[in-house]
Parts: sequence; C-alpha cells; structure tokens
Amino acid sequence: MEQYAIKGGNPLVGEVEIGGAKNAALAILAAAAMTDETVIIENVPDLRDTVVMLKAMESIGIRVERCGRHTVKINSGAVSNLVIEDDGIKKIRASYYFLGALLGKYKKAEVALPGGCNIGLRPIDQHIKGFRALGADVRIEHGLIITEAGQLRGSHIYLDVVTVGATINVMMAAVMAEGQTIIENAAKEPHVVDVANFLNSMGASIKGAGTDVVRIRGVQKLHGTEYTIIPDQIEAGTFMFAAAVTKGDVTVKNVIPKHLESISAKLIEIGCEVEESDDAVRVVAAKPLTHTHVKTLPYPGFPTDMQPQITVALGLSRGTSIVTESIFENRFKYVDELTRMGASIKVESNTAIIDGVPKYTGASLTAPDLRAGAALVTAALAAEGVSTIDDIKFIERGYEDFPQKLQSLGAQIEKINTERELRKFRLKTG
Ligand code: UD1
Repeated sequence: MEQYAIKGGNPLVGEVEIGGAKNAALAILAAAAMTDETVIIENVPDLRDTVVMLKAMESIGIRVERCGRHTVKINSGAVSNLVIEDDGIKKIRASYYFLGALLGKYKKAEVALPGGCNIGLRPIDQHIKGFRALGADVRIEHGLIITEAGQLRGSHIYLDVVTVGATINVMMAAVMAEGQTIIENAAKEPHVVDVANFLNSMGASIKGAGTDVVRIRGVQKLHGTEYTIIPDQIEAGTFMFAAAVTKGDVTVKNVIPKHLESISAKLIEIGCEVEESDDAVRVVAAKPLTHTHVKTLPYPGFPTDMQPQITVALGLSRGTSIVTESIFENRFKYVDELTRMGASIKVESNTAIIDGVPKYTGASLTAPDLRAGAALVTAALAAEGVSTIDDIKFIERGYEDFPQKLQSLGAQIEKINTERELRKFRLKTG
C-alpha cells in the first residue's frame, strides 16, 4: 500500500511555487462545457480530482486536449449525452458543478450524487433550491440527480447558508437564463470570483462576485476564451503552516497575498514573521509559537480547509488554544492521530481545546481526509523520529507533487510501497 514515510525534525527552508486553485479549477472545467467554442485553461493543477473531472467530460463527448501539464484545451461542441455517472465522479464533491453547467446550457443534466471528503453532512439543498427558483425540475432517481427545465428564468434567490458550491452552481445555471438573477447571501471565496471572471470572459454578465449579492443578467450564448486559474489559497496556507511548525523559513511564490490574509494574521498572532510582496509571502518561524483562538468562517474568515493545519500548529504552541469549527460538523477526526503523536487535544462537539506540548513524536498515521491528511504530514515533519501516513490517495486529491515540493524545502519525505522501502528509508535518514 502506498504511504508517505517522513522523518521529522528538519526546518523547512526555501521557496515553493504554488499551483492553480483546485476548487476554482473544478468549477471552471465544468463551466467550459457551456460553450460550443474552444476554451483554453491555464494553471490547471494536475490532481486526482481534476483528472476525474476531465475524464467525466470526455465520457459525454467533450474533447479534452492536454497542452503541457497545466494547460487544457476543451471543446464541448459535440456533447453526445447529458448523463455523468462514471465511477470516479461519484467520489468527488465537485461533480455537482456539472448540474449547474449542463442545466444552464442544455436545460438538462443527470449527475451521480456527489461524494468527497467525509467531514460531516454535506447537503445540496441550496443548490436544488436555486435550480428550482430558476424554473427547473429537480429529482433524485437511481443515485442520480436529474434536473431539467423547459426554460430557465431569472429569479431572486436568498441562500439560507453561505455556500460556495451552491453560489457557483446557481450562478452557472443562471448565466443563460432569461432575465436577471440575484443571489443574496452569496459566498465570497476567491474561487467564486474566479469562476465569475471565467464566465464573464466567455461573454456572461455577472456582477458583484466577491460580495454577498451576485447579479447575473442572462445572455443568449457563451463563446470561447483563454483563462488562467488563480493560485490555490489552501495549498499556500498549508506550506505557510508547515514553515511555522518546523521552525522554518518558507516563501510561497505565485500567490495572491490578499487571499492569504486570514492565514497570515493567525501566523503573526502565534509568533511568526510574515512578509508580503506582490505575488509571494514569506513565513519565518524564529520564535517559539504561542497559543491563540480561531473559528472557521466563510471568506474572508479563517478557512475551514485550514482548520487541521492550524490545530497541528497550536498543538505545539505554548498555552491553551481553542479551535471552533463552524462550517462542517465532523472535521476533527484527525485529532486521534495527533494524540498518538503526543498532542493534548480534547474535542467537545465543534470545538477543540488544545494544551500545547513541546514536541510530537513519530507514529503510524492514517489520513482521514484531504486537508487533515496534509496537516498530519506537517505534524510528522515537525515530529521527532519517523512517521508513516496511509491513505495518501486523499492527499493526492488536492496537492500536486506534495512530497517533491516538501523535499525541495529540505524535508525528509518519500512515497513508499513496501516494508522493505520503509526499512531503507529508516536507514537512509538515520
Ligand atoms: C467547498 C469546497 C471545500 C470547502 C468548502 C467550504 C469544493 C469542491 N469544495 O465545499 O473544500 O471546505 O467549500 O469552503 O469546492 N450546505 C448546506 N446546503 C447546501 C450546500 C452547503 O447546508 O446546499 C452547508 C454545508 O453543509 C456546510 C456549508 O453549507 O456546512 C458550506 O458548504 P459549501 O461552502 O457549499 O461547501 P462545499 O461546496 O461542499
């Protein structure tokens, strides 16, 4: 079974290039199905989830051509059917973006119910509410969500919770609806803005993305475009916290510092120095870390996808810290793994109470989901001795070349397959 073997203790030092945003890319790929003309998308991260999206697109007749590792050319002029249900797609959350994209363009879509990380109940009632408000019929049959409409008409939609997925999905469905759609209580995440910018570059008329009211004026059709995806806020944040826990000095390059402000602010609070330049952020962890409190919130608040990473850091910070998870109800499963490394963390409902310990020790760990998996890697990099991490398929869903990037910063990490390789790793790393 594939694992990461990690020998902790080396401070991470150097520069690392951040890739395109996974959560923007997944929606933008689906949105590329909304024009018959050719679309070229750059800075697409090469991840399990993006590969799954592209395969699903090919399964309905969309032509996908890779031009280099991070550029794809997509032509959806010959879509042959509107049913997306291949095995891969059932496992990822973003499959739901095909509903909004295909409903918007073809007024019909059938997509397997979404999977994704098991971090709590993940309903899609707000997506369905939005589609219905636009005049679509939505039903679930044989594991598929089926949505269709004779005609989509603009509507005034108030989302009951701030949801990234529903904001983007309803925006896509409304782009070619008749008249104006207003989405209130919209999510403001950078990837919502990126998808809106992409659609606008195809001829859509979307205003207000990045605020909590998004206005969409329906257009007849969309045209081809060339577009570059924004850098990944969470990949960057993960490396920034990896610098903090290893007492390192890391510069994340090719980022938008504004998107990282809530992350930078917490790093400063716990004792790191953070220097911003135009498209890079440097984190220096020269002093011992100190405690703080944090609550996950929709953007511009502290992202839920960074919650495990900050918990790992607070586990090594002097004093008592409190982490409150307000987005997903089952996002502390990794705490058991951290406890086996020596952390002192008590979880009560959606809150973790953390008493900082001076060090973690290496252990055999299992990644429970994508972000928690990455956070356990950072814990292992900070720990004394060797750790192994199982179920790295989760981590590979969201981090391109993770071991290689960490190695370039001086980490001792390798992907291994056998006991023999683990023994070799132990010998090599002393
Ligand atoms: C997306 C991201 C995920 C990130 C999350 C929050 C993708 C593929 N995944 O997930 O990495 O952690 O945003 O930033 O982009 N909710 C409802 N009804 C709905 C939709 C959501 O109640 O119809 C609730 C969810 O249960 C959750 C909250 O709203 O409590 C936010 O969910 P949402 O922003 O939609 O997250 P996802 O799209 O699932």
